[in-house]
Amino acid sequence: MTARQKILTVFGTRPEAIKLFPVIHALADDARFESRVCISAQHREMLDQVLDITGVIPDHDLDLMQPGQTLDALTARALLEIGKVLDDEQPDWVVVQGDTTTVLAGALAAYYRKIPVCHVEAGLRSGDIYQPWPEEVNRRAVGTFATLHCAPTATAQAALLRESVDPKSVHVTGNTVIDAMHWVTKHAQAHPEIASGLASLESRFAGKRIIGVTSHRRENFGDGMRSIARAVARIAARPDVAVIFPVHLNPNVRAVMNDELSGLDNVALIDPLDYPHFARLLDISHLMLTDSGGVQEEAPALGKPVLVMRETTERPEGVEAGTARLVGTDADKIVYETERLLDDDAAYSAMARAHNPFGDGHSAARIIDLLVPRK
Ligand code: UD1
Ligand code: UDP
Repeated sequence: MTARQKILTVFGTRPEAIKLFPVIHALADDARFESRVCISAQHREMLDQVLDITGVIPDHDLDLMQPGQTLDALTARALLEIGKVLDDEQPDWVVVQGDTTTVLAGALAAYYRKIPVCHVEAGLRSGDIYQPWPEEVNRRAVGTFATLHCAPTATAQAALLRESVDPKSVHVTGNTVIDAMHWVTKHAQAHPEIASGLASLESRFAGKRIIGVTSHRRENFGDGMRSIARAVARIAARPDVAVIFPVHLNPNVRAVMNDELSGLDNVALIDPLDYPHFARLLDISHLMLTDSGGVQEEAPALGKPVLVMRETTERPEGVEAGTARLVGTDADKIVYETERLLDDDAAYSAMARAHNPFGDGHSAARIIDLLVPRK
């Protein structure tokens, strides 16, 4: 009988938590593993929202978030503090997901100790080191020293192979975001009260088509973010639509959105939603406007057209299928593309098709199987 593998999962932000809780649940239920969890808490409230709903209890909470943290200070502190946890735990594997500062620091600290790194959601590439910034470089860096690359799609696998990553270390597992969506849907069906908090907004906006909006990318800070806000204000001037916009807690985002959008009749600027409520928002939305990575995967899976307020995307699968469209941050373009979907039924129907190239809901099981030593 092979010894139990000690797996240390390291993460820090909302999207990592959403995409890793299925893996952590699967590890906890499997006698082949001893599962340990370390959070950097690069995010605090937005991370805790996910932990609360999914029941993940960290063994190590580094509590690193500082308001308005800089990339270099956070990276340095995360590298040092995660390193101490690795020395303490001495895991057989470190599992990280995606492309945040925590991913870079966690994977690098493991590599410095020659601990194998499993990179979940490996191989996403926009081809531009400044879009998204700094995520494109974070994931490329981890791609050079991870031991196991869990590519969500064949496109991501091909990107890794083009970079001369050992083909034997690359596996197409699907994206765990679909596992997460299945879990949250089932959980909300069993306990409808966990997603009932939007009821008052739903009745306030009854009869209008809801547009769900999120925005937080660093490369959009400044002019891009203000342009997005002004586009949303113009769209919301229509009497037949309402905007529900859970605003990211980053102060750079909140300042601009409050400045441009607070007090508008058809706009609800609200705090970040927990995952069941965000799933509900996706469900009631006619379309999504976003610069998020995860929302680009979730919205097409639910048949919701998604207009991506970025110049490039590392998730071309939705664009190729016609369920997502890149619209950048130019206000005229965002308004034009949104109104086209609102006013042209054929254009809307062409995009509103359930399309799910990102996974089948069994990605976590595939990933943990790869962590068992081969005979
Ligand atoms: C980070 C990731 C980004 C990911 C995003 C998901 C990096 C470089 N960026 O960006 O890839 O898409 O998370 O949301 O890793 N804040 C709070 N409470 C929270 C979370 C954030 O107050 O729960 C505020 C703090 O002032 C914090 C700021 O937001 O300093 C920025 O957080 P940070 O994690 O540095 O960057 P994000 O922009 O959230
Ligand atoms: N999300 C959430 N509440 C919100 C906004 C988003 O739970 O108010 C979820 C969303 O369903 C997706 C993830 O957060 O799974 C995306 O996170 P974010 O946009 O912050 O980061 P990105 O995916 O761009 O890295």
